[in-house]
Amino acid sequence: MMPELNDTLAWEYLEKSSHDRATIRHRRRVQIAETASYKNYPEAVKIELPLDWSLQGARLQSLLQQRRSLRRYHASNGLNLNEVSFLLWASQGITAKMGGHLLRTAPSAGALYPIETYLVIEKVADLSPGLYHFDVGRFQLERLVPEVRGKDAARVCLNQDFIAEANLTFLWTAIFRRSMAKYGERGFRYLFLDAGHICQNLLLAAEAIGCGGCPIAAFYDQEANRLLGLDDRNERLLYAASIGRK
Ligand SMILES: Cc1cc2nc3c(=O)[nH]c(=O)nc-3n(C[C@H](O)[C@H](O)[C@H](O)COP(=O)(O)O)c2cc1C
Repeated sequence: MMPELNDTLAWEYLEKSSHDRATIRHRRRVQIAETASYKNYPEAVKIELPLDWSLQGARLQSLLQQRRSLRRYHASNGLNLNEVSFLLWASQGITAKMGGHLLRTAPSAGALYPIETYLVIEKVADLSPGLYHFDVGRFQLERLVPEVRGKDAARVCLNQDFIAEANLTFLWTAIFRRSMAKYGERGFRYLFLDAGHICQNLLLAAEAIGCGGCPIAAFYDQEANRLLGLDDRNERLLYAASIGRK
């Protein structure tokens, strides 16, 4: 029988790799030797690749070329609800129906969509600051906690101060059972892959509207989960991205 979620190897790993404010400085890190940052096969036949493509889709090329993690934002030039809506659609919007599945902009292992999206809104016209949840099915934002601000997101993300200056921050949690009830331990891998797809969609969409963002995976797990009000035996923060005007 498959072990219950909190008895899995995946869960043990999740616990053992969590950051905690009290222990982060003193915790013994595993010592792993570094290695080269890319690989080649010196003996292999080499084929030069052209770089002067004249392809359709040049817009995507320029977005990919320009994307850089952005940690300084021109907050005075805010975003509006229209732009936030576009970013939500680009990252997780429903784009097709297939049988019982509602397919989205980003791929998902088994079309199980284990990732939930929360937003900390700081400076967006037409939206009061606070913590929101994205209801994918209804394409609506649900206001959860008006008191949660960008500085709170920054604090739980290892005090990375630039997050407080962002117009908004996306926070992606996993509902572990969605994937692991089907795939068991292996389903744990898929959660992070799904989150990566979602984040990349968001970063390119942000680029397309004159914004930029920074992916964030450094956070104090328990503090972050509490900030979002999660039942952390079932749902935890995996990944985040701050977004702001260039
Ligand atoms: C999984 C992941 C986690 C990251 N976490 C952080 C973070 O917590 N804080 C931060 O400032 N940057 C973070 N980054 C951004 C990287 O530092 C950045 O992608 C890298 O330096 C390459 O630069 P570029 O994104 O501008 O190409 C993260 C990136 C990834 C992919």
